[in-house]
Amino acid sequence: MQAILALDQGTTSTRAIAFGAGLKPLATAQVELPQHFPRPGWVEHDAGDIEVHSLRVLREAMAKAGLEPRQVAGLGITNQRETTLLWERDTGRPIGRAIVWQDRRTAETCDRLRSEEALVSARTGLLLDPYFSATKLGWLLDNTPGARAAAERGALCFGTVDCFLLHRLTEGRVHTTDATNAARTLLMDIRRGDWDEEMLALFRIPRACLPEIRDCAAEFGTTRLLGGEVAIRGMAGDQQAATIGQACFAPGMVKSTYGTGCFALLVTGEEPVASKHRLLTTIAWQLGGVRAYALEGSIFSAGATVQWLRDGLGIIAHAREAGEWAAKADPAQRVHLVPAFTGLGAPHWDAGARAALLGMTRGTTRAEICRAALESVAFQTADLLDAMRADWPAMGDCVLRVDGGMTASDWTMQFLAHLLGAPVDRPVVAETTALGAAWLAGHQAGLLPGPEAPATHWKLERRFSPTMSRDEARERHGDWKRAVGRVLG
Ligand code: G3P
Repeated sequence: MQAILALDQGTTSTRAIAFGAGLKPLATAQVELPQHFPRPGWVEHDAGDIEVHSLRVLREAMAKAGLEPRQVAGLGITNQRETTLLWERDTGRPIGRAIVWQDRRTAETCDRLRSEEALVSARTGLLLDPYFSATKLGWLLDNTPGARAAAERGALCFGTVDCFLLHRLTEGRVHTTDATNAARTLLMDIRRGDWDEEMLALFRIPRACLPEIRDCAAEFGTTRLLGGEVAIRGMAGDQQAATIGQACFAPGMVKSTYGTGCFALLVTGEEPVASKHRLLTTIAWQLGGVRAYALEGSIFSAGATVQWLRDGLGIIAHAREAGEWAAKADPAQRVHLVPAFTGLGAPHWDAGARAALLGMTRGTTRAEICRAALESVAFQTADLLDAMRADWPAMGDCVLRVDGGMTASDWTMQFLAHLLGAPVDRPVVAETTALGAAWLAGHQAGLLPGPEAPATHWKLERRFSPTMSRDEARERHGDWKRAVGRVLG
């Protein structure tokens, strides 16, 4: 079998992985992405960094694996979703910095449109929150002199990171996105799989700047920037790629990825399920023109909370220390950290909420604070799974498949299993996002026939089983909910 390349352009880093026969990782290259916080609540990335880093890691992974372009059957791109870019169609020159999914600058715009939320939700599966792309794009068009008129003439291109990278990798020849990324913009009718005129009018977005929407496995174009021609054959948002990499193809399967934030997706099948509990309805993948849907719970701070312990508070030197301190915490203390650093996502969707540490006494030390930080990730996941179960009772007793950096913390995964009262499964290959993108490209190249490929490659590394009594878990969860109630606006 030929090799497959996966490019995973995430919020805090850009990485490329070369996969060989049996989707075995051959080589990895990674570089950190600088974050820009020009004002409170604003988060930006430099589009130039995204482009340059992506090329660098792709070339490095190929070199490390000893690959020539002719040995690469396809490249799959996966990316941080919703992050919004605008650039000149002819030159590729970015208009301002990319506005990152965490950025809250359009909270007021969302509030102003609140009376339309039911329509927006029915059409797009999403909610009115600054998290999504449409209001960010509106902000760029309104705050860059001449941008709106240029976008109307078709001189500017809008895209999420996948779309921007495809345009740059094909040297401006292709302006295309995939259905999973399009589904996060607030501009797509997720049932029809196309841009929606009413949403375009509501958010004042000119159709001329939008990309074409395609399947996740498709002939997206070729790049000549990797030393020869390489076909780009896969594309999906990172959480959807992780769903595929976790082999969650059957309705009822659920995965949760712990990166900067935490994103849990429950696959529900070919009919979209509308949420009554403030979850999102999103496209899990689109293959051969057929869409599969998922219910998604999005949490904004997971790994970011541990990063804050390290870089903000300075009470740990390395992320792994958080679990070590948590294990030493006083069991009698009930300290809670509600990590609403950039507001709260599902199921609260409160852009104005801010983080709080509650329940501290003079006896509270870094151990209890570290425990509260790790517990907050598990409590929030439990909130999401409760909402999923309420929206889709067929989910029943689930097994949660987990991935992402924080899953390295046995302490957190064990507490998560206790709280959920359900098994938590950690796979051998932690790089599920890249694996999903690689599968899409390999599938399109005809090397991997169907969803069986990730399913046969998924191997359990460790199962965490619950032993806490349900009464205790419920009581602990109740305490958490009261703590969250204190920060909601
Ligand atoms: O929706 C945002 C999500 O795609 C970001 O994921 O892993 O880059 O934090 P990550």
